[in-house]
Amino acid sequence: MDSQLDQLRAEATAAIAAAADETALEQLRVKYLGQSGAITALSKGMKDVAPADKPRVGKLLNEVRAAVTAALDNRKSALLANADKAAFAGVDVTLPGIAPGVGTLHPITQLLDRAVGIFRRMGFALADGPDIETEFHCFDALNTPADHPARNEQDTFYFDDGRLLRTHTSTVQIRTMETSAPPIRIIAPGAAYRRDEIDATHLAQFTQMEGLYVDEGVSVADLKGTLEFFFRELFGPDAQFRFRPHFFPFTEPSYEVDIKASALGGKWLEIAGCGMVDPAVFESVNARRCDTAFDPEKWTGFAFGFGLDRLAMILSTVPDIRYFTANDQRFLAQF
Ligand code: DAH
Repeated sequence: MDSQLDQLRAEATAAIAAAADETALEQLRVKYLGQSGAITALSKGMKDVAPADKPRVGKLLNEVRAAVTAALDNRKSALLANADKAAFAGVDVTLPGIAPGVGTLHPITQLLDRAVGIFRRMGFALADGPDIETEFHCFDALNTPADHPARNEQDTFYFDDGRLLRTHTSTVQIRTMETSAPPIRIIAPGAAYRRDEIDATHLAQFTQMEGLYVDEGVSVADLKGTLEFFFRELFGPDAQFRFRPHFFPFTEPSYEVDIKASALGGKWLEIAGCGMVDPAVFESVNARRCDTAFDPEKWTGFAFGFGLDRLAMILSTVPDIRYFTANDQRFLAQF
């Protein structure tokens, strides 16, 4: 039996080392270690071995089984390694790879994110409203009379059912006051739409940021302080401001804000409209809510609105606003 075992070990290890693939290897495993395999058959023959020889023959049998098992494992690893190597044949892994195109945030989104962050630090929450609006939310509730030029079909996109694409984000002032009672402190960034002739500085869709603050005892000083703080955070401490009296139907008094800052080219630039919420606006909201939550004798507030596109153009030295919507990778990859 000893010589039989020695011979089996030699034969099996040689065959395994020469196995060409995994199928051949599996056949060899069955041939030697399987239920009717050669080593299994020899273990069954142990019962005929003389008792005195049993320990030695048993030990040898175990060694042979271990040797064949190890040979099978080794060959399997070697076959796998060969397959891996073949997969890489002809590939130079030291060549530089193809870098995936990593996107960047749109320049207007970057400016918007900074702006939202500053107002959040002052306690303003984000508010939202639909782009498709009613005349009530876009004009009537904002104290804008029926014959106001902004309501003209030449300026506003109307749908057949009388709804429209909002011409400003001031609609969100009304939407917010309809559903929440004062005090209110919100900003509402979003798209606005006008039937403008499209050129280097005008698009039919642009981006605005609206603000509304309603509380007891709010004054023009709060309005000025809030806007000056905001724009100084955004454009640097050297920013100077002019609050020019102006007219907006929904604020009284109203102002246009000019800014001069080196970050914005060091020239006076008109950047925002603002004012103290007109009591007539509170009254239309009350009528709509069927209550007196916005009693103009008790509450005062300020509102403001500004466009982000022109500021983004100046900050990012973009000469033509149409680049913002052209979706050209060569343009967008620069930010
Ligand atoms: N809605 C105005 C516009 O689109 C901007 C504006 C002016 C918003 C004064 C306001 C405001 O909230 O108080 O031109």
